[in-house]
Amino acid sequence: MTLAEVGRVAFEAVTSLTRYRHSWLAVLEPESPGFAKILQVSGSQAELVLDEVPLVPVEGDEMMAELIRSEGVVVVLDARTDPRTNKEIVSRVHNRTILNVPMRLGTQVLGSFGIGTYGDEGVLAPTPEELDALVVFSVQLSAAFERVRASERHRRVEQERGVLELRLEALQRVELMGVLAAGVAHDLRNLLTVVQTNLEVVAAGPDPEALADARMALRRSAEICGQLLSLGRSQAPRRERIDLDARLEATLRLVRPAMPTGVRLSHQAHPHAPVIGDPVQLDQAFANLIINARDAVGERGTIEVVTDAVTFAAAGKKHPGWARPGHFTRVSVLDSGAGVPPAILGRIFDPLFTTKKHGTGLGLAVVSSVVQQHQGLVNCESTPGHTRFELYLPAAE
Ligand SMILES: Nc1ncnc2c1ncn2[C@@H]1O[C@H](COP(=O)(O)OP(=O)(O)OP(=O)(O)O)[C@@H](O)[C@H]1O
Ligand SMILES: [Mg+2]
Repeated sequence: MTLAEVGRVAFEAVTSLTRYRHSWLAVLEPESPGFAKILQVSGSQAELVLDEVPLVPVEGDEMMAELIRSEGVVVVLDARTDPRTNKEIVSRVHNRTILNVPMRLGTQVLGSFGIGTYGDEGVLAPTPEELDALVVFSVQLSAAFERVRASERHRRVEQERGVLELRLEALQRVELMGVLAAGVAHDLRNLLTVVQTNLEVVAAGPDPEALADARMALRRSAEICGQLLSLGRSQAPRRERIDLDARLEATLRLVRPAMPTGVRLSHQAHPHAPVIGDPVQLDQAFANLIINARDAVGERGTIEVVTDAVTFAAAGKKHPGWARPGHFTRVSVLDSGAGVPPAILGRIFDPLFTTKKHGTGLGLAVVSSVVQQHQGLVNCESTPGHTRFELYLPAAE
């Protein structure tokens, strides 16, 4: 329940039990010391009162001063003539009879609850029953009011905690960069050790195998550096018109020699719109997906790279939750491997997340950052034997 709702309930009750058609609720808040804040007004004068006197100064207003001291109802029969009222306010909102009762919680004054008449309604003297009704409601209102305030305070505390948690997350990201740097440095050092020991072997006499190992370690180091660079890259990506299928063919030619003989790697091109983007970044994203697929299928299986066009309609509710309306060119990489277990599906794009003995866990983080830089979408669906990674790039034109 909100404060406004509590007020509304009290207003309805008091107008049904008394002859007064106007009621108001004012609160003393630490944020506006020296003023009573009109929280809510009911009746035909509501807008006028809220516009004209949102804050009633307590200082110099005898009626307010008395109200804060009082235990019971402060009766002002005619605000125009009663010496205790603030005449400036009365002339603006045309009060006549004012019946105010303080809302107390223990010794603390929370505010006041009042009923009365305005303008042409003239003066209306309260009956003892009406005064009683007002007091009873103010007691109930005080209790409800305090409950609502407590829950609002609680909500504020929760909100602040939310903000703190966000900050913590940001800090953890910074920490993650540290972990990332440490992890990468570790990998690179291991690879450099491999290079060094093998070169020492070669220095002692020709050894093709040692040379090949050194080369392999250097290539892997270069790969890691390339991925790190693209992950940390903040400069704007190149924007060129790209022939996706031609580039995919080139990437496949590069990775084919690294495929076990039992793996069938194919490319299916369906009609699609051209895309504008950074060819180097996109190549890297596709290569990362294809290499993951190779790791997933092992010694035998199939890997298919498919391009096609997809439109997510603006009005249609048919497209999945992660999508957004628009025309896209889609590149899908499908493999027949064991699949991504559902439990880790939410983490595979996180930097450093890997289930592989020698993985860096950067591959999909790079994919996701490249896709983001191209205002695209990425999606993964996986069941054992059927894994599909899809990149959606905005169609040019
Ligand atoms: N096609 C796939 N099939 C099954 N699991 C996958 C597939 N692609 C990625 N994964 C899972 O996602 C994890 C993260 O992939 P990512 O490419 O980011 O890192 P990695 O492949 O482990 O390491 P690196 O890319 O440095 O070799 C993988 O370790 C693997 O568990
Ligand atoms: Mg990978």
